[in-house]
Amino acid sequence: MATPTAVLGVSAYYHDSAAALVIDGQPVAAAQQERFCRHKGCDQLPTDAIDFCLRQHDLVPADLSSVVFYESPFAKFDRLLATYLQGQLSALPAFVAAMRTWLPTKLWVENHLRGHLGRTLGKQVPLLFSDHHLSHAASAFYPSPFNQAAVLTVDGVGEWSTTCIADGRYAELALLEHIEWPNSLGMLYSAVTRYCGFKINSGEYKLMGLAPYGDPRYVERIREQLIHLADDGSFALNPAYFDYTRRLRTYNQQLETLFDAPTAPLGAKPTRHTADVAASIQQVTDQAMIGLANRAAASTGHTRLCLAGGVALNVVSVAAIERGTDLEQVWVQPAAGDAGGALGAALWACHQEHGVARETPPTPDGMAGAFLGPTPGEPPTDHHPDAADPLLPATTNTDRTAAVLASYQLHAQHLDDDELADQLAARLAAGATVALARGRAEFGPRALGARSILADPRDPSTHRRLNLQTKFREGFRPFAPVVLRDKAADWFDLGQNDRPYMLATDPVTAAIRTEPAPRVPDDDLAAAAVAVRSQLPAITHLDFSARTQTADPERHPFLHRLLARFDARTGCPVLVNTSFNVRGEPIVTTAGDAVECFLAAQVDLLVIDNWLVDRHLQPPSALVARRPSARSDD
Ligand SMILES: [Fe+2]
Repeated sequence: MATPTAVLGVSAYYHDSAAALVIDGQPVAAAQQERFCRHKGCDQLPTDAIDFCLRQHDLVPADLSSVVFYESPFAKFDRLLATYLQGQLSALPAFVAAMRTWLPTKLWVENHLRGHLGRTLGKQVPLLFSDHHLSHAASAFYPSPFNQAAVLTVDGVGEWSTTCIADGRYAELALLEHIEWPNSLGMLYSAVTRYCGFKINSGEYKLMGLAPYGDPRYVERIREQLIHLADDGSFALNPAYFDYTRRLRTYNQQLETLFDAPTAPLGAKPTRHTADVAASIQQVTDQAMIGLANRAAASTGHTRLCLAGGVALNVVSVAAIERGTDLEQVWVQPAAGDAGGALGAALWACHQEHGVARETPPTPDGMAGAFLGPTPGEPPTDHHPDAADPLLPATTNTDRTAAVLASYQLHAQHLDDDELADQLAARLAAGATVALARGRAEFGPRALGARSILADPRDPSTHRRLNLQTKFREGFRPFAPVVLRDKAADWFDLGQNDRPYMLATDPVTAAIRTEPAPRVPDDDLAAAAVAVRSQLPAITHLDFSARTQTADPERHPFLHRLLARFDARTGCPVLVNTSFNVRGEPIVTTAGDAVECFLAAQVDLLVIDNWLVDRHLQPPSALVARRPSARSDD
């Protein structure tokens, strides 16, 4: 039997570091470093994630066919030098700040990787470097269910490119066109994110969530002044408004003048004004993405499109592409941000460097529902807060979960899947919230049922309760539904029938809407957020849209069973599905993380694999967190 081709992909040193293992072209393990070390968006070398990937298949570094870094540090450094030299003296502070991070780390990737993986790296095991957008493109195309497709990648910036169009055919993937720095759709969206009072690199989701509350009255101004969208799909930013090539700030005062008001302080409550700006930039982003998608189709001649890069996580723009172009099908890499670059780099090397064939595309796709991470019972890794906890004996994974629960003195029941689904359905129907940590964790930003908090979407109080009491986050932020796939069409006008990854929005059907839409005072965003718009008020946004996930028996066996039981009791095959974390913390990974988060959040029930913990049956002494909270205003 031929030796399998095992490739480890690594992304690091920007934000959201990750590692991924691909064997014979199949993603088999992938995880973000933040899920282990518990620092949100961790940008360090993902040593815990690397160790997890290797352990998952009992590999040692010498077993690998190659290790691939997701971009070229030297090409990126070249762009940095060129940019700052152009900026001359005004760029000096930004240059010094960049050098502080580049000189000790980013330029020494090879040494750092060898330091962790050992001396075989670079000798028996080749170390390869991909290209940033090639990694994104590979992450989008190879796991897609398509033999041939156009590929579009859009983000802040890689080495030089900010947007790429590629042509994928079987195992081949060729970059055809690109738009270069400083013209960047990602940077434009990030600049407006900061203008509206949110943090760059983490607040972009919030800006997207805020958009439906606003009136897009700045669209014309943005298109006239900030960004030129050409008929051929390309775009160019007006450098007069942006400072990110010259200074430590992203934009200058001219942008504030354009939007009639100064920048909102970080963490400030959204206002009618910032909602209007959010609505406007969202609409322009949709227009730009439609133009790029059409261009990708025209350049390649394909009718199917694969998407990746941070901007591909804009679920509203993905829906705009689905509905605003003639493309037959759109597939988005669930880890579309830079974490997914680790997976793309490994896939690229597997097919392009090691010659692994791809004669038929994977079905239903190659991502295994994105459940590529660790199980809750795996031992804490080196940088995990519980790494040195003497209360966690090194036993089997199932025993370890039991040991964690016992160490917190929590009373738990061990149930089979059927009993568990029955009990949870009954409690959810009675208004309880349920935190689930079951099986392998999701790779990428979305919780898809393995590390999720679930609730009843029919209850008008669910939205406020989850935002303010459970997740401690802003009241305006929307929640997403998970729905039985075979009943989804009764509740949502789906752009595509299969939505396992929660990567686009769909309107709720006219039949379940509350008409006319409730009137709320113009400047009261909090009232607007909780105004009932449909029979599923917790997940219906102001514009009647929802960020849908469909659950099917193959990829989501337990979630599907639970939804079916909930449907049998209530006539509603939909649940709220939000990530199992609190504001500012990464999504939980281990049983210990799940218990700590359960203790911090006001969740009624905790499920770790087949263990069920009821908050209301615990002695008060058991409901005490052990770790200091890392919760922040982020
Ligand atoms: Fe990227």
